[in-house]
Amino acid sequence: MSTATEARSNPLAQIDWDYVEFYVGNAKQAAHYYMSAFGFDQRAYAGPETGVRDRVSYVLEQNKLRFVLTASLVPDDEISRHVMLHGDGVKDVAILVQDTKAAFDMAVAGGARVVLPPTTIEDGLGKLVKATIATYGDTVHSFIQRDGYSGVFAPGFVEARRTIPGTVKPQLQFLDHCVGNVGWGEMDSWGDFYARVFGFSQLVSFDDKDISTDYTALRSKVMTDPRNQVKFPINEPAQGKKKSQIEEYLDFYRGAGVQHMAIRTDDIVATVRALKANGVEFLETPESYYDMLRDRVGQIDEALETLRELRILVDRDDLGYMLQIFTKPLQDRPTVFFEIIQRKGSLSFGKGNFKALFVSIEREQEKRGTL
Ligand code: FE2
Repeated sequence: MSTATEARSNPLAQIDWDYVEFYVGNAKQAAHYYMSAFGFDQRAYAGPETGVRDRVSYVLEQNKLRFVLTASLVPDDEISRHVMLHGDGVKDVAILVQDTKAAFDMAVAGGARVVLPPTTIEDGLGKLVKATIATYGDTVHSFIQRDGYSGVFAPGFVEARRTIPGTVKPQLQFLDHCVGNVGWGEMDSWGDFYARVFGFSQLVSFDDKDISTDYTALRSKVMTDPRNQVKFPINEPAQGKKKSQIEEYLDFYRGAGVQHMAIRTDDIVATVRALKANGVEFLETPESYYDMLRDRVGQIDEALETLRELRILVDRDDLGYMLQIFTKPLQDRPTVFFEIIQRKGSLSFGKGNFKALFVSIEREQEKRGTL
């Protein structure tokens, strides 16, 4: 089938990430954090100075990544209620489409709840067509068609370039996947949602045998578009001896929402060094993880000592291997965080690391005689 025919029969066959919008309590300070810690540049702004009375939004960019940080200027609108309930968090994982109306019609035919019907937003620089549907929790997906727009980001925004001097650039490239945490027993129905509404198929799934430890039990299923460009893993908590990390998220976020965004890099060693120089904090990895690493993943290009020094994790599948590391939460509540990921052939989501981390924790326990 030609690309044009495919696009007509499935309007969501040729999609990409457009932007991720966070609702936050103080967008000015959040923007400074993402710029100085993660190396984003400010590109555009909307607020009272540009004729928007009730909110401010900062558009940050880095290579193909685009984040929008939005805060309310009034006490009782949708944004301030979202922040009051969830804390700072991800509101909109927006998708770039070729035809917003066709994508929206397909989503609604698949059972999506409408938040905003197809709407043309225009200024002197052209038109942008946006529609929005609801997904898990209070999270939404906007469809963005921007082929008729030549301005910066969207009508209503003005170009406002700014960088923070002294920031080490980590060269984050683009989103690899965006993970949602949903409630007990809801993973399958949200997986079905992405199949019905987006025409996605299931890439992989992990059950509690794969990623169950005494410390964190969860089930996960990865939904993907036909080009593996936009991947949405869905997690649900599973029963373990201790509280699942997914359940902890649901408690603090007050419901389902985006748990982490994995950001691709071409050189994870340089990226992690830059982020650490900027003060980004990462999760700890036990020393014993690295004692077992060579046996577990075999030959890799990176020096084991460098991975050990930076606490970078490695996983292998039959296609190759991948390197990953997780940041600590990005805001006060232990909710959303980033994963930094470099793929060397592998399509893995790091399944092997759950067990490897668990085994290394047990080794530490063994040393202390507490197993
Ligand atoms: Fe991930």
